[in-house]
Amino acid sequence: MKYINEINKRKTFAIISHPDAGKTTLTEKFLLFGGAIQTAGAVKSNKIKKHATSDFMEIERQRGISVATSVMTFEYKNHLINLLDTPGHKDFAEDTYRTLTAVDSVVLVIDSVNGVEDQTRRLMEVIAMRNTPVIVFINKMDRDGKNRFDLLEEIEKELKIQLHPMTIPINSGKEFKGVYDLSQKSLVLFTAGTKAEVDQAIEINDLENELLDAKVGKNDANILREDVELIDGVYGDLKVEDYLSGKTAPVFFGSAVNNFGVKEMLDTFIRIAPTPRPRQTTVREIAPAEDSFSGFVFKIHANLDPRHRDRIAFLRVCSGRFARNTYYHHVRSSKDVRFSNPYSFLARQKDVIEEAYPGDVVGLFDTGNFKIGDTLTEGEDFYFTGIPSFSPEIFKEVINKDPLKTKQLEKGLMQLTDEGVAQLFTQFGGNKKIIGCVGELQFEVIQYRLLQEYGASVQMNSLPFYKACWLTSTDAKKLDDFVKYKQANIAEDKDGHLVYLAQSEWFLNTERNNNPDIEFHFTSEIHK
Ligand code: G4P
Repeated sequence: MKYINEINKRKTFAIISHPDAGKTTLTEKFLLFGGAIQTAGAVKSNKIKKHATSDFMEIERQRGISVATSVMTFEYKNHLINLLDTPGHKDFAEDTYRTLTAVDSVVLVIDSVNGVEDQTRRLMEVIAMRNTPVIVFINKMDRDGKNRFDLLEEIEKELKIQLHPMTIPINSGKEFKGVYDLSQKSLVLFTAGTKAEVDQAIEINDLENELLDAKVGKNDANILREDVELIDGVYGDLKVEDYLSGKTAPVFFGSAVNNFGVKEMLDTFIRIAPTPRPRQTTVREIAPAEDSFSGFVFKIHANLDPRHRDRIAFLRVCSGRFARNTYYHHVRSSKDVRFSNPYSFLARQKDVIEEAYPGDVVGLFDTGNFKIGDTLTEGEDFYFTGIPSFSPEIFKEVINKDPLKTKQLEKGLMQLTDEGVAQLFTQFGGNKKIIGCVGELQFEVIQYRLLQEYGASVQMNSLPFYKACWLTSTDAKKLDDFVKYKQANIAEDKDGHLVYLAQSEWFLNTERNNNPDIEFHFTSEIHK
């Protein structure tokens, strides 16, 4: 328990949203509150621009810049907060999924005009798998959005999570007057365009108080009284343990760009969000307060510039203390490794650090030794679990255009897929190489990097699959028969696990119905 004070100080989380809901804006406001940046726009300039979707080099260049802001550490009210950035671009969703394995909680931003959108739904599935605590921020209340209760209902239904309103808005759009903070029993008034650091809260303990009518008008005051009565009746008090177990999500209404409602949320976050949590491994649960260091790699960022072939592996510290120039045990290779220049990511600059504690993320220079999910310890052999691969959505066959470079191609495919750029499958019983990605863009990245870094020239041919499911069964014979029967749709992943490649949802459902003894898994985690 040597490091308990350091551990209790830390909160590591990610902000997630569908693109354009306001993640970048909210991140920036958090950093302003934390004093990590002085001006608005500092984070924004690192954002991957929407219009650059077809130009992957440009996106990679911007991603390169954004490595520095991949983890933003700031202090707020005696807490050390690690905010892990997640790329908004859909084609990098896999990166986001993985980042979610390294955080202890998330803030979900929802656009009040658009409600629950595609990418939010998918991200929430990942979050639900891990029971990660969620705080919801309903943004853009200054725009004519959906009705507040309709929004709450939609979010609950779509994301299959129980909500707990912490604030309740008074109108939206041009008529937006502010929020009533249910736990603080105070009214926070909105003034359009204000960028003031903090909005003044007016204490109104008793809603019958005529001050309320004077501040928001009789009509809106009455609507608010009804809303509060309804919410109190339905939701009661927030149970922090339900939030921590991922059952209930506190909800705030606000407007990030106007810096409205942000501080209320941040203060609640500080109060209830979890400090670094214990983590499951293949052997036992690891408590953050254990004296021995352990951590895992959840992301690898490669430099596309051929003159700088360095990669940065992002390591989440899970227990003990990580120190510079100290030998650690790399479980997969059974080798001892040490790092002379580990990075921390403080706001905009990278700094070499001497030590790090549970909840922290350290950037390690890597020359190709790391793979996503790799574990470092002080000698013990285990892997952290809960870092699965998710099914890709686009599949292509890799055709080698230069037989003389077969070896280089194999090596390149292995290394790039270790980095998590894509997943590699091999056709069952054959040697057809299949690459699966979440977005088209990655195929361009792979093709480019195979040529630039490995001298391997390839062609990618689209395959008519839409999902990969990992297969297991307690009945070996049934699984064997299925594999033989469906050979054209069966492949092996890099670890030799069987995968069924489904052409469509209909095929997948049919096969699942016809083969009740076979389990179809949507993540690779089952094999841990
Ligand atoms: P993202 O990271 O989730 O993709 O969203 P981002 O913060 O970039 O916000 C997307 C757009 O929504 C931005 O406008 C931003 O200014 C705007 N926005 C964020 N919060 C609010 C809010 O509370 N109210 C309103 N009305 N708009 C909000 P943009 O035009 O795309 O960029 P910019 O030119 O304003 O920077």
